Amino acid sequence: MGRCCFYAVGTLSLLLLVTSVTLLVARVFQKAVDQAIEKTIVLRNGSETFDSWKQPPLPVYSQFYFFNVTNPEEILGGEIPRLEEVGPYTYREIRNKADIQFGDNGTTISAVSNKAYVFVQNLSVGDAQSDLIRTLNIPAVTAMEWAQQGIIQRIIRALLKAYRQEFFVTHTVHELLWGYKDEILSLIHPFKPDIPPYFGLYYGKNGTNDGDYVFLTGEDNYLNFSKIVEWNGKT
Ligand SMILES: *[C@@H]1O[C@H](CO)[C@@H](O)[C@H](O)[C@H]1NC(C)=O
Ligand SMILES: *[C@@H]1O[C@H](CO)[C@@H](O)[C@H](O)[C@H]1NC(C)=O
Ligand SMILES: *[C@@H]1O[C@H](CO)[C@@H](O)[C@H](O)[C@H]1NC(C)=O
Ligand SMILES: *[C@@H]1O[C@H](CO)[C@@H](O)[C@H](O)[C@H]1NC(C)=O
Ligand SMILES: *[C@@H]1O[C@H](CO)[C@@H](O)[C@H](O)[C@H]1NC(C)=O
Ligand SMILES: *[C@@H]1O[C@H](CO)[C@@H](O)[C@H](O)[C@H]1NC(C)=O
Repeated sequence: MGRCCFYAVGTLSLLLLVTSVTLLVARVFQKAVDQAIEKTIVLRNGSETFDSWKQPPLPVYSQFYFFNVTNPEEILGGEIPRLEEVGPYTYREIRNKADIQFGDNGTTISAVSNKAYVFVQNLSVGDAQSDLIRTLNIPAVTAMEWAQQGIIQRIIRALLKAYRQEFFVTHTVHELLWGYKDEILSLIHPFKPDIPPYFGLYYGKNGTNDGDYVFLTGEDNYLNFSKIVEWNGKT
């Protein structure tokens, strides 16, 4: 065996040794990282993760823009609508979880997700409570359509005739979003109880939840953290 070969083998084994030590270190290190992550990420009652999962700290905003109708009479006379965009009106979505229950030895957690909306003045152009928007009278137009489609046709026709409805109505931003008591819907409501007497784009959405969720806590495997496994009883 020549000298050069001897050196070559020596270098190779040294290389292999270095590699395996590196691999070992990497493996141990990985395990430590895993454990550190697992400790912080698993949803256990009282942990930091649990608190921020229950009430996410990052703000979520919803912004709304409206189109103010500036020429209502002319539109009824056949002209093109002239719309003025106003907004944004900004609401902060406050989400939190309620009815929290741990199940299956802490590997799952069930909760309902609640949402509430709070107006944010300094991210909005005006005041939602006092700014007026003139817009299409959506309940009346919808009722006119119902009257043509035969859903309790005669009653609605009679109501529309008796209570001359305007094509355009003026309401505050707050009312248009969160609901106002509408005349025609109030009259229809006794005949069709599933039609509420209120109308608003987000009517009934404040302070409600969108169903029951079951999450995995990550207790069995942290990679499963906060995966949704079930929603309203469906998987
Ligand atoms: C979490 O722990 C607190 C205090 O120990 C207790 O009051 C609460 O009911 C627990 N929550 C759940 C979801 O188990
Ligand atoms: C919970 O843990 C106990 C003891 O470790 C075990 O006997 C039981 O089967 C577990 N239950 C579930 C639902 O995993
Ligand atoms: C939504 O409900 C919360 C709590 O009841 C209330 O503070 C908030 O003003 C409501 N938001 C709107 C837009 O009505
Ligand atoms: C808006 O006002 C709130 C207090 O009312 C304040 O906490 C927040 O930092 C303000 N945001 C901006 C973007 O000015
Ligand atoms: C929308 O138009 C109405 C009617 O012209 C007016 O009273 C109201 O101030 C306008 N709203 C905004 C936010 O400009
Ligand atoms: C949790 O993760 C493990 C490993 O990735 C996977 O085998 C298991 O199915 C997951 N559990 C659920 C309920 O998704």
